[in-house]
Amino acid sequence: MRTQVGIVGAGPAGLLLGHLLHRAGIETVVLEVRPRAHVEARIRAGLLEQGTVDVLTATGLGDRLHREGLVHEGIELRFDGEGHRIDLAGLTGKRVTIYGQQEVVKDLIAARLAAGAPLLFEAEGLAAQDLDTERPRLTFRQDGREQVLDCDILAGCDGFHGICRDAIPAGLLRTYERIYPFAWLGILAAAPPASHELIYARHERGFALATMRSNSLARHYLQCRPEEDLAAWSDDRIWAELHARMAGRDGASPIKEGPILQRGVTAMRSFVVEPMRQGRLFLAGDAAHIVPPTGAKGMNLAVADVVVLARAIEAWHRGRGMALLDAYSSTALRRIWKAQRFSWWMTSLLHRFDGGDPFEHKVQLAELDYICRSAAGALTLAENYVGLPLEAAP
Ligand code: FAD
Ligand code: PHB
Repeated sequence: MRTQVGIVGAGPAGLLLGHLLHRAGIETVVLEVRPRAHVEARIRAGLLEQGTVDVLTATGLGDRLHREGLVHEGIELRFDGEGHRIDLAGLTGKRVTIYGQQEVVKDLIAARLAAGAPLLFEAEGLAAQDLDTERPRLTFRQDGREQVLDCDILAGCDGFHGICRDAIPAGLLRTYERIYPFAWLGILAAAPPASHELIYARHERGFALATMRSNSLARHYLQCRPEEDLAAWSDDRIWAELHARMAGRDGASPIKEGPILQRGVTAMRSFVVEPMRQGRLFLAGDAAHIVPPTGAKGMNLAVADVVVLARAIEAWHRGRGMALLDAYSSTALRRIWKAQRFSWWMTSLLHRFDGGDPFEHKVQLAELDYICRSAAGALTLAENYVGLPLEAAP
């Protein structure tokens, strides 16, 4: 088999890259190790920056997103038992949209299949080879048969646990990493959201976040230990903890209970590799970087990466040479590091650090108070939260 761009991974990064390149008349094959049903059911991120919504809308993926997505103009920060609204729209003129990552993935898969573009699920044993030549290739197994896909360019969009990053010889990449001493216990519940906007709560018992997937599906997170045993968390314990961390001074909690449909523990990590390229292999999304979810940046960064990468591949395809591809890593990393900084800062601001001294605790509260009382403080949070401008728009 032969194609122009071989894309590994059918997550938001790989599927959107395939979509953007298909619209530019460039041939792609997307290879995914998991079955379609698994990819479409994976519950992960849920908050789209305005720039992400704009990209999806401009490229024909906005129909269901605009019908079902919930547009939010603010968020609430809660500490010391009091809520403070950050007016995102008033401060920045931009909004964010709640629309589950798996819904974006479903829309992208539907668009790709409707376009008749190749998307192969359950591609096993995948390997990326000959990266430093003009004919890099992907080898894999499907239905028990060994396959070879010759390409001009490879895109490693296979997430944090994928194989593409490791195909780059050790020593050529520099890794930057921070592992946090806590994790998030997340639940999806058949219950109305706590409020019409997201609530980020800093509490002595630990951080809590009340978000949603729709007006009848709540998604909540609790700071927990990294090695937390889910079996130790009965439904009653989860609700009691959410109430305690979200309660106001009067003890009233905005959390509404309902059957818990799904639960899981997510580790918290900051991670970046540089450069995001070796020869003809380009890394995008979680394959190259991970952020802790507190800033809601993971999927949005994956989208921003592939917008830059698609523009560079298109320039190369139109005979304008490799200049934009050569600049891809440094262009993408400018935004990535700002999102890393913001995600680390939001995480540090809102979580409980065991062993943290009382001085740090007071500084954390002072910073929250500053953000809520100073227009400059609120604006700094708001403009990062709604998303910094994209480097390139389709
Ligand atoms: P992925 O979505 O990981 O997609 C990579 C794809 O590559 C997958 O489909 C995978 O199956 C496939 N793949 C892997 N290895 C191979 C292989 N060898 N061959 C072929 N295919 C392969 N972000 C937030 O902002 N908020 C959240 O609440 C949040 N929660 C998260 C919860 C979890 C459990 C995880 C893992 C991530 C979460 N994130 C969250 C981060 C966000 O979901 C990611 O940033 C986003 O999925 C990145 O998209 P991606 O396409 O780069 O990678
Ligand atoms: C979510 O809706 O899952 C979500 C929203 C905001 C975050 C993290 C997760 O910061």
